Amino acid sequence: MKESGVDGKILELFRSGDGVVSGAALSKALGVSRTAVWKHVKGLRGKGYQIEAVPSKGYRLLSSPEILTNLDITAGLGAKRIGSSVICLKETDSTNSVAFKMAEDGAPEGTVVIADTQSAGKGRLGRIWLSPAGVNLYCSVVLRPAIAPVAACQLTFLSVVAVARAVERCTKLKPQIKWPNDILINGKKVAGLLNEMNAETEKVNFVVLGIGVNLNLRMAAISEGLLRHPATSLLEEGGEEVDRLRFTRVLLEELDQLYDNFLVEGDGPVRAEWLARSAIKGRSVKVSQQNREFCGVVQGVDSFGALLVLLSDGTLETVLSGDVALL
Ligand code: BTN
Repeated sequence: MKESGVDGKILELFRSGDGVVSGAALSKALGVSRTAVWKHVKGLRGKGYQIEAVPSKGYRLLSSPEILTNLDITAGLGAKRIGSSVICLKETDSTNSVAFKMAEDGAPEGTVVIADTQSAGKGRLGRIWLSPAGVNLYCSVVLRPAIAPVAACQLTFLSVVAVARAVERCTKLKPQIKWPNDILINGKKVAGLLNEMNAETEKVNFVVLGIGVNLNLRMAAISEGLLRHPATSLLEEGGEEVDRLRFTRVLLEELDQLYDNFLVEGDGPVRAEWLARSAIKGRSVKVSQQNREFCGVVQGVDSFGALLVLLSDGTLETVLSGDVALL
């Protein structure tokens, strides 16, 4: 077992037990000596884990470092591909930029980059994604699907549905999806997704799925002018702090499961779930594009991620980009 693998396994055992785990149990489960267990516990303390030694009983994990760590995220993660490598940064410009560079340098599929804060978080259409420290999730995932560039937008469905499922599993809230890739709670934006791609004419080299979720952000801490949409956080809507680590692990597991299914069955199932969760199907909307605005009723999405909007003259518009507002 790799050294970091032992640390991860220790954390997993702490979490799966109900308090104190004996040195003997740890040594047996890990296949290392009691002295080695002690050395790893010491190492984990050095990394910010508070571990209490309970005399003649064993060890108990009291707390983890405040920022997310790759050990915490990967220990016992039930995912096949996503999280094969997890990089947690205290601060960066943009996790998407870091993941993109890593992918250009050959980072494997499933590489995840997470930052506690971003100084230049990227939003859609060149906008800024506000990324204060210590409260939210900013995460980018490298995928290398064998698909044509035109099909890459199907991956947007994956990240949107994965976030919606994670919100449902970690809170009592009911998320809604707004085209193309916003997650709303009570009509306010709680998460945004930005996918970036490197491709040749015929094939995708890699896609970076960028996911930003407002978890424990207090909206009063943000000056109003900085937010374009009515925005919110899971804490504001649910009234309870969300465990960032749990949310991250659940999200990566959901993403992994959806991606696995996508590789076998294509985008049909995930698109169906996207539509079922969509806040705009059958609703009247106003579409704003660079040089044009029009209104119509949303019929659905096609397999390229385009929104299908029926205009009053009976024309079916295929909307590939723009902003959509409910009327
Ligand atoms: C949007 O405008 O709705 C998309 C926001 C996407 C933000 C996430 S945060 C993690 C990743 N890194 C970035 O720089 N952007 C995405």
